Amino acid sequence: MTVSEIFDTMDYGPAPESAADALAWLVDQGSRFGHFIDGEFTKPGEGFDSTNPATGEVLATLTQATQADVDAAVKAARRAQPKWEKLGGHGRARHLYALARLLQKHARLFAVLEVLDNGKPIREARDIDVPLAQRHFYYHAGMAQLMEAELPDAQALGVCGQIIPWNFPLLMLAWKVAPALAMGNTVVLKPAEYTSLTALLFADICRQAGLPKGVVNIVTGDGAVGEMIVGHDDIDKIAFTGSTAVGRRIREATAGSGKALTLELGGKSPYIVFDDADLDSAVEGLVDAIWFNQGQVCCAGSRLLVHEPVADGFYAKLRARMGKLRVGDPLDKSVDVGTLVDPVQLRMVSEMVEANSAGERYVAETDMPEGGCFYPPTLITGLNPADTLMQEEIFGPVLVSTTFRTPSEAVSLANNTRYGLAATVWSENINLALDIAPQLAAGIVWINGTNLMDAAAGFGGVRESGFGREGGWEGLAAYTRPRTTPKPLKAIEPFTGEGAPQDPIDRTAKLYIGGKQTRPDGGYSAPVWGKSGALLGHASLANRKDVRNAVEAAQAAKGWSRSTGHLRAQIIYYLAENLAARAEEFAHRLDTLQGGKSGAKEVEASIRRLFTYAAWADKYDGQVHGVPIRGVALAMKEPVGVIGALCPAEAPLLGLVSVMAPAIAMGNRVILAASEPYPLAATDFVQVLETSDVPAGVVNILTGPHADLADTLARHLDIDAVWSFGAAEFSATVEKGSASNLKRTWVNNGQARDWMGPEGEGHAFLRAATEVKNIWVPYGE
Ligand code: NAI
Repeated sequence: MTVSEIFDTMDYGPAPESAADALAWLVDQGSRFGHFIDGEFTKPGEGFDSTNPATGEVLATLTQATQADVDAAVKAARRAQPKWEKLGGHGRARHLYALARLLQKHARLFAVLEVLDNGKPIREARDIDVPLAQRHFYYHAGMAQLMEAELPDAQALGVCGQIIPWNFPLLMLAWKVAPALAMGNTVVLKPAEYTSLTALLFADICRQAGLPKGVVNIVTGDGAVGEMIVGHDDIDKIAFTGSTAVGRRIREATAGSGKALTLELGGKSPYIVFDDADLDSAVEGLVDAIWFNQGQVCCAGSRLLVHEPVADGFYAKLRARMGKLRVGDPLDKSVDVGTLVDPVQLRMVSEMVEANSAGERYVAETDMPEGGCFYPPTLITGLNPADTLMQEEIFGPVLVSTTFRTPSEAVSLANNTRYGLAATVWSENINLALDIAPQLAAGIVWINGTNLMDAAAGFGGVRESGFGREGGWEGLAAYTRPRTTPKPLKAIEPFTGEGAPQDPIDRTAKLYIGGKQTRPDGGYSAPVWGKSGALLGHASLANRKDVRNAVEAAQAAKGWSRSTGHLRAQIIYYLAENLAARAEEFAHRLDTLQGGKSGAKEVEASIRRLFTYAAWADKYDGQVHGVPIRGVALAMKEPVGVIGALCPAEAPLLGLVSVMAPAIAMGNRVILAASEPYPLAATDFVQVLETSDVPAGVVNILTGPHADLADTLARHLDIDAVWSFGAAEFSATVEKGSASNLKRTWVNNGQARDWMGPEGEGHAFLRAATEVKNIWVPYGE
């Protein structure tokens, strides 16, 4: 072959990486694996084969964990946890550092084993998966070191159950294990059944590193083992990455259990190309967006949206590039696209594509290897936004596409999905790109780049892509809880009475929806009695129709989320001022409602609280993360959207203010279910809202039994988060109902909160009222 021919074809010979060391390691282990529990490998039991998807060869036999295995792993983790936490940040940092060093030392072995087990190209495992896994351990060694100084109010959660998928087996393990350990937790981890080998190699590394026994426990098996972990009584937190369907089941299964939960689920992430983009770079970006790891990436840029004027030219370039992708032996260092993880996945992708008759399908004209789970790079253009393939995650090397005409159409197409994990924007106009980024419903936005990830930047989504962030300072919240001593919540029964109204004028407090006092849809109300049995008035009984009206009003008040922090601060100060003007009247009302003498104190605390959040409205800043690229990752705080909240029964004014103020300060709109036994403090507060320039629909107040409201709020698809500070039983109702659209929840699990004290305000509230969006902006040539 002549040099000019080589340049013509850009063809090059095979450059296979040797599998010898990885295969030898498997043989050394007897090619049969038990679990890793309490620092030891257990004897292999009944199980299943782990195969190489490129060849179908059996690599090893794994053990399907039994309930007894899971129990033993949880027991070991529980036993080890207090000592591990007491080791202190520096002690744990040393261990995490040792793990990072050993991961680095055995990098090639990990990479090759990953390729054999998963089918991803060695280039990716070697240059992305393994280095990022190491980076995660280094980064979190640092977090352990800094924990005591920087997070003095945080403590470990306890034992974490972690369930991970097969697309980035080692990297997902690192994402889960490193922050958990750094914060003083111990873990029971279950790798995916197709790809458990690098987790078992990691277990071996833990042994070599002298990690205390029981700190990391690894059990293997399928979804049934996952269910055992999820259902285990002695686990404090579940962290899951995988499909939305399983995530939803886990949400339902853990509802009301008191377990903390983070879910990192699927996506159908838009990849938007504007006409002023550097089109060649945008094409190259797509190689990383949808053909990286054969498209088996939760944040894959799988939905291409191209500006109409450049669409034909762009598709032509893209097809030409697709023809140059080398599909083949994943161990070959010059291969771009490897195999799907398993025949099951291959079948799923093929069936989805075959079932589609819309649009125009183009299959890359590239040589395809014989056998193995290979699937050709595919592009389907001309789809409609509602077509199945535009909506459903394919999780394979299949890109779907449509065009748009204006930036606002691009945004609405991009957001036309139930998911919200990531988004990519290509434009040379920074003004346009930075204007679009905040409008996208996604946890991560990449500008002129794609699939950029790092331990220092939070990763995670909104909507049905799940909740919680992994990485960065924001990821630590998922592995800590505040240092408070839990106290059980006392139930408060409303007073009863028989007295006639002291005042013959009817005093039925209305609901407050969309800035108007409105009668309840059902037309019912209930008497509210004071301690002495006097009739204080009537409160309306809201039903699900009223909830729906309130959600509509809150959705219509979107402008609030775009208003400035300064404006929101001014309005919250004004609320405080107007409440102060009527302090005596409110204090009296609170005393008669609750039958005590603390009304004046409660009003004073409510005014203070409004000041606190007026102060925070323009100060809860984002960050610029120090990611290892030439560029920045802007961690922007955004409002969650519409938040429904069950207000505490106790402290009927202060409780309502404590829930409302942080939410609206951060730009959310709220639907508040007032204190159930003492609703009239909330309905009086409506008058303060009405005189304080709070725009219609930003605050909506409902009264009536929480039992009628909790489930409707939790299941409503247009509510983005629900908080429950009401009676204990509503924690389960809210968590269970939230599985409908996987909205975020924050519930009290039957624990009391001292609303007067510091736990009644602060960072926990601000965190719950915001999403962190990481916007990556690489720059330079
Ligand atoms: P999956 O969600 O079933 O598997 C992920 C993990 O969850 C595995 O470890 C599995 O054993 C475990 N699991 C399964 N059922 C469980 C249960 N009921 N309780 C607890 N744990 C359980 O994903 P699967 O079936 O392997 O892939 C199906 C589809 O899911 C893919 O085609 C893709 O669309 C999506 N997926 C998304 C991922 C992501 O990163 N977002 C990762 C893997 C799959």
